[in-house]
Amino acid sequence: MRVLVGGGSGFIGTALTQLLKARGHEVTLVSRQPGPSRITWNELSRLGLPGCDVVINLAGENILNPLRRWNETFQKEVLASRLDTTHMLAEAISKASQPPRAWILVTGVAYYQPSLTEEYDEDSPGGNFDFFSNLVTKWEAAAKLPGDSTRQVVVRSGIVLGRGGGAIGHMLLPFRMGLGGPIGSGHQFFPWIHIGDLAGILNHALEANHVQGVLNGVAPASTTTNAEFAQALGAALGRPAFIPVPSTVVQAIFGQERAIMLLEGQKVIPRRTLATGYQYSFPELGAALKDVIA
Ligand SMILES: NC(=O)c1ccc[n+]([C@@H]2O[C@H](COP(=O)([O-])OP(=O)(O)OC[C@H]3O[C@@H](n4cnc5c(N)ncnc54)[C@H](OP(=O)(O)O)[C@@H]3O)[C@@H](O)[C@H]2O)c1
Repeated sequence: MRVLVGGGSGFIGTALTQLLKARGHEVTLVSRQPGPSRITWNELSRLGLPGCDVVINLAGENILNPLRRWNETFQKEVLASRLDTTHMLAEAISKASQPPRAWILVTGVAYYQPSLTEEYDEDSPGGNFDFFSNLVTKWEAAAKLPGDSTRQVVVRSGIVLGRGGGAIGHMLLPFRMGLGGPIGSGHQFFPWIHIGDLAGILNHALEANHVQGVLNGVAPASTTTNAEFAQALGAALGRPAFIPVPSTVVQAIFGQERAIMLLEGQKVIPRRTLATGYQYSFPELGAALKDVIA
């Protein structure tokens, strides 16, 4: 199939492109930068949707960039980079003379309210209690198409574990030095997924015609707490991981509102993802971490 991927040049997009090509699909990226096998967002808005069978959107300014202060300017960029690109693709799809078969958006589990006791599946309520949950609500709303000639899927992703990027990219150095440990209390849930499985779920959503609606993009064993995650990462590296990162330090680096993403978490179950027949390559944390640090 011909697949158009918005924001496909990044961490998840690179893994996804590799998998899609290995599956025999043809990939074109929508990017801010022109290049081979790419169109720019300007070209998309000027020329409309190029011929394609599936559209996926991964575009979004990196929220946890520690070099950016959590101020109004950055918050606007975080919002606009997701809402504008998603809206642009949804509009191009709805105007296309030959609409694609499927339209897939990756959002986040920040939709669900952090809690030490609640358990969330795809039907659980959420989306209306803080900056990030409101962002996911607006993001998913921007993707809505008027008709039903195109199958629509939203994958709410957890923290993606993969080589050379994502949250674990920042954690590896201190953990390798034996300076790692839980963040804040460590009791908060840490809803993770191996990057190969997130790419796998997207490929499943693209290839399987019965998949529709929301899928949680987390591992089935995502009942891990942050402290358990720190211990497992330390064990995988053969290093102690007992030095906690105090909440005050996280809040000083990221700002109070953004620090919630690290200091609080959700217990998320991929009930629909499993029910649609997706089979995980890395259902267990130990094996997922071993692969990432290999
Ligand atoms: N990584 C995770 O743990 C995680 C978890 C949950 C959800 N997600 C979501 O999944 C999506 C992809 O994540 P990722 O980790 O692959 O992100 P990433 O590596 O930061 O890449 C995202 C891509 O978005 C494009 N982009 C960045 N800033 C932009 C802006 N201001 N305007 C338009 N496009 C912009 C870039 O493509 P060009 O430079 O080619 O334009 C970039 O390669 C994001 O929406 C993210 O919120 C990620």
